[in-house]
Amino acid sequence: MKEYIGVLDSGVGGLSVLSELVKVMPEGNFLYYGDTKNMPYGTKTPDEIYFYTKKILEFFVYKNVKNVVFACNTTSAVAYDKLKVEFNDVLKIFPLIQTVAQDASKNLKNGDLIAVLATKATINSKKYEAEIKKYNSKIDILGIDCTGFVEIVENRLYEDKNAIDLVKSKLDMVKTNNAKRVILGCTHYPYLLDMFRKINPDVEYFNPAGCLAEIVKNEAKLSQDFYKDKGEIKFFVSKNPDEFKKSAKTFFDIKDDVYLV
Ligand code: DGL
Repeated sequence: MKEYIGVLDSGVGGLSVLSELVKVMPEGNFLYYGDTKNMPYGTKTPDEIYFYTKKILEFFVYKNVKNVVFACNTTSAVAYDKLKVEFNDVLKIFPLIQTVAQDASKNLKNGDLIAVLATKATINSKKYEAEIKKYNSKIDILGIDCTGFVEIVENRLYEDKNAIDLVKSKLDMVKTNNAKRVILGCTHYPYLLDMFRKINPDVEYFNPAGCLAEIVKNEAKLSQDFYKDKGEIKFFVSKNPDEFKKSAKTFFDIKDDVYLV
């Protein structure tokens, strides 16, 4: 039976991670799940996010997934600790924040400031702060709640004036506080990177996706069945498969069917 790595997110954001996973494991099989019905996760309660993510993990187990990548910061921040214990016997889970925190804090001096752009739930959890401080306690972290960014990406509002003003207002905080590095702390935000660079080209942007993919490649426990039939990617969503395809474009030009489950 074919084995897959499961990759989950609330929508198209996790495709920014899937594209990196496919680069480093081009012959592997992947199942992607975008929970478009419950998107955005970032304004939901931890209990709701836990419940949605659990349902996806049950689906993955049924599909013979053995390794799962939480390509979602919000889920990693508020639901991972509990789900790791509950699925310990059947799944190895790679939570985004915890997996990349060390790399995200590299090459900075004492007192340097990292700005974390993320959803409300991720910022409220203070997970980035806690994880980064494990590796470098002398770095300062500024969390910036970017509620609304996910909708810009899912609805492709890249030219919308209100959307641009919202992005500008958040990047002003990065500038005012003189941050050295900006962590794209939501997997939807790489879709906005061109816009970020245009507004503020003077700061270093850290997209965790590449480093996460490398770590998954090295640490996932994969059998030969992961390479059976070579490089199959299947996409599942809980609502609007056609909209998902359109919004996915930056990272995946999906030609195949997107299944509604
Ligand atoms: N892309 C996800 C994240 O990294 C979820 C965003 C959302 O649905 O609010 O946090």
